[in-house]
Amino acid sequence: MSTTNSPITRQSVIDQYLPKTVTPVADSMNEAVFAPSNIALCKYWGKRDAELNLPINSSLSISLAHLGTKTSISVAAGSNDEVWLNGQKLAADDKFARKVIAFIDLFRRGAEHRVKVETENNIPTAAGLASSASGFAALMKAVDQFYGLQLPLLQQSAFARMGSGSASRSLYEGFVEWQMGIREDGMDSIAAPLDCVWPELKVGLVKVSTGPKAVDSRSGMNRTVDTAHLYQSWPLQAAADLERLHNAIADKDFTLLGETAEQNALSMHATMIASWPPLLYWQPESVAAMQRIWQVREVGTELYFTMDAGPNLKLLFLADAEEQVRTFFPDLEVISPFA
Ligand code: PMV
Repeated sequence: MSTTNSPITRQSVIDQYLPKTVTPVADSMNEAVFAPSNIALCKYWGKRDAELNLPINSSLSISLAHLGTKTSISVAAGSNDEVWLNGQKLAADDKFARKVIAFIDLFRRGAEHRVKVETENNIPTAAGLASSASGFAALMKAVDQFYGLQLPLLQQSAFARMGSGSASRSLYEGFVEWQMGIREDGMDSIAAPLDCVWPELKVGLVKVSTGPKAVDSRSGMNRTVDTAHLYQSWPLQAAADLERLHNAIADKDFTLLGETAEQNALSMHATMIASWPPLLYWQPESVAAMQRIWQVREVGTELYFTMDAGPNLKLLFLADAEEQVRTFFPDLEVISPFA
């Protein structure tokens, strides 16, 4: 298996949904927009198309309520584009700034104006806590507002996906499913929310490291797809897990949800470890946390975890176990996705 680049470009797809010219709306109409971060219970790992970020498997996530990114776009006063991150102006050649401007260029249609993008994360950037998901989702919403495009959310989800795959899911609250799709232009590779509210469900963040990671998820994914024979089994695992998660959510079966999410995350990490050169995002503290979770389960508390491409763990538990869980993880940041 290997990742390909389709002859279709991001620009050629987006062009079909935009007016011929775009004009910024008055600044007074522009408010900062927010998109939540999300964590996948069934992970997206591997692309069938690298240009459009089309996935090899469908995935399912839960949005992290107030944790995410707030972004606004206005017309810049000077003659250059500006990107501000958490109150600091970034250098024009900064990697993050270039990604943001490249995304806006997809919608700018060559217009003359320069933009000032102000973005704030209340989650650590690039620490495996999915800030790129909320980042590109918020940027998509801000672009939509800045140019008065009023694109339907499903289209915004497809376009946010071109910035970062997991961003397709961050347009919504609660449980969200991203359908892999089969079209070459990816316009059926979109996310939509599931009709379920589960107020008792909690997510806990175990922060092992909040520094930037050595290998970003894009390179990690490509390396796994290209070099790990074990990856062959991943699409089957993901498809089975997705079905189990649908059942777990429909029946509010927390045991099934937790077991499935944890096994899915570990299966994804198994494919990474089996790549070459090997890819191991875990730190000793990550493994210690896993072992503590398994001990907690042994003594009868239902506690599960999931992990993305980073060393941090996200715990899954129900409200009535929170006190117990906090005794084992005193520094836990607890999120109520449905509060
Ligand atoms: O959207 P990306 O390119 O940051 O990739 C996200 C990959 C995982 O976080 C590991 C899985 C997922 O579905 O979010």
